[in-house]
Amino acid sequence: MKHSPLVLSGMQPTNTLHLGNYLGALKNWVRMQDQMPCLFCVVDMHAITQDAGYAHAADLTRSTREVAAAYIAAGVDPKRTPIFNQGQVPEHGELAWVLNCVARLGWLDRMTQFKEKSGKHKERASVGLYTYPVLMAADILVYRATHVPVGEDQKQHLELARDIAAKFNNDFGAPDFFPQPEPVITGTATRVMSLRDGAKKMSKTDESDASRINLTDDADAIANKIKRAKTDPLPLPASKEELKDRPEAENLLNIYAALAGQDRDAVIAQFAGQQFSGFKTALADLTVSKLGPITAEMRRLLADPAEIDRILKNGADKARAIATPIMDEVKKRVGFII
Ligand code: TRP
Repeated sequence: MKHSPLVLSGMQPTNTLHLGNYLGALKNWVRMQDQMPCLFCVVDMHAITQDAGYAHAADLTRSTREVAAAYIAAGVDPKRTPIFNQGQVPEHGELAWVLNCVARLGWLDRMTQFKEKSGKHKERASVGLYTYPVLMAADILVYRATHVPVGEDQKQHLELARDIAAKFNNDFGAPDFFPQPEPVITGTATRVMSLRDGAKKMSKTDESDASRINLTDDADAIANKIKRAKTDPLPLPASKEELKDRPEAENLLNIYAALAGQDRDAVIAQFAGQQFSGFKTALADLTVSKLGPITAEMRRLLADPAEIDRILKNGADKARAIATPIMDEVKKRVGFII
């Protein structure tokens, strides 16, 4: 069986999204909507693999709405593309259980992200954190999604999803039951780095808020962070060769090129030999003009949480319409009475 193309991706509702999420992921998602049917979820079930508890519940709810608002504000159109939170589609959890019984301990033991996230005290990590990649496989396979836009750091999880799909197909005697989902690696062309350290990725978990431009920052905050961004004492380079070992300069030029929709070489030529102060003013203006409408739209959406909840519910209904028949077939294959 040939599976029809379907894109699925998701982001965790932890803290707020930043410029790296926009340039590295959301912008691509928006474009993909024109190429294939897409589903975009907010993975609230993944978010509770760390920091779960009633004390975190209100934050989780708020972040889930914020991420959904960011999807919409960036240009994902909920009329065309279902946007939903994972926790509202019970089939994710149902399939995850079955796939937990397909995946092998040895496969999960190799996952480098679990090793990083669990740190020195693996025995204190939740079981959910360990089996996180199996839930991710379920997110994808429960819709038979064929294309999965993810960052480089999720490649290993996607390979695991492919292995799990193949073993399910084999063990349950249905060679083409699940597709082999393809990673679509996003964010390599525009790796957005920290504004405080050009060697580190811009990250929502960095302690320094000055290291990132949040999608909830207002124009003043954006301009200030760019003006305070770390640079080196030299003027801007005149060629890409001169960018070598100048990660901060490279990052700011990359951000400029991505936001302006220009080739990086053209941006280098435009600012060659100039001081950072002038370039930073141009970059701050550009960032404010590109992100301003998105952050304003996010604020508008977030002022009406009930409307976001309706969009998520509606998206979940559409997602379930795809997932339920597939899950019914899974249950039959497994031998559950339905
Ligand atoms: N693990 C992904 C990340 O941290 C988020 C995610 C969960 C996801 N389920 C997914 C991404 C399914 C793509 C498809 O980025």
